[in-house]
Amino acid sequence: MGLFASVNGNVVPAEQACVSVLDNGFTFGDAVYETLRTYGGRPFHLDRHLERLRASSARLGFGAPFGDEVFTRRLDELLARAGNEESYIRIILTRGEGDISYRFDRVKGPTLVMVVKPFEPPPERDYAEGIALGIAGVRRNHPRALDPAIKSCNLLNNILAVREAQGRGAVEAILLNDAGEVAEGASSNVFVVKNGAVATPPLAAGILSGITRRVVIDLCRGLGIPAREDTLLAADLLAADEVFITSTTKEVAPARTIDGKPIGAGKPGPVAPRILQAYREYARRHAR
Ligand code: PDD
Repeated sequence: MGLFASVNGNVVPAEQACVSVLDNGFTFGDAVYETLRTYGGRPFHLDRHLERLRASSARLGFGAPFGDEVFTRRLDELLARAGNEESYIRIILTRGEGDISYRFDRVKGPTLVMVVKPFEPPPERDYAEGIALGIAGVRRNHPRALDPAIKSCNLLNNILAVREAQGRGAVEAILLNDAGEVAEGASSNVFVVKNGAVATPPLAAGILSGITRRVVIDLCRGLGIPAREDTLLAADLLAADEVFITSTTKEVAPARTIDGKPIGAGKPGPVAPRILQAYREYARRHAR
């Protein structure tokens, strides 16, 4: 049980795993990643995560010269070696080893790193009582600068926002885009519930196309909950009956407060817990 890594297919305990100091992922942050988790020991929606990983790296002009079956085989080996009941999975694909220059023709790559560790679920209290969110002063990267749709290892925008939110006692930061509209959480997507209907910012707000977000929108249809993509302002979050965030690791997590102000009744429900339950059932069924 524990933390194991696969570096270009070689599986070792994570503390023994090595990547070159000349790797562009290290020298330039020239890398993309995915975070997955297992349900019943099996990765959830590896297909969708690999599709997004390939889309991200394609935007940067590199990619993996092998198919999904190689990712799947390497990940299966790693999960078997780690033997965790449930795993957190990080897949990192870098352009490869360069010479600390913009001479991309000299880069030998890509480098594919996968790390797994025991999955630590968020505390049950987060779901029972809701979490504290904070609206960050730092704005989400403008899509014409560094498109948030690229899931890149350049996480400084997210780190600045989370540090700011944590400094104010929140666990997750909500970022606005350059136009002042709600974009997304630092590592999550955001939803509001108003009069029984669910809304979330459109991809055009400049956000990551979250895999949990997509599943939640689709599940709402089956649950008879109207769900739409719509421009939201900070005032819409504060005036909502419920606010919740979605991500691979947090699933569907209700908010208790935003910047210290209570949301709705100041306690979760009733819509977010229904969606969470449907999401967990879906995830258990769809982990391969
Ligand atoms: N974060 N938006 C951002 C900026 C994210 O980093 C993430 C994921 C999401 C939600 O995406 P998904 O539902 O596909 O997990 C939205 C992961 C969990 C991370 O950074 O580890």
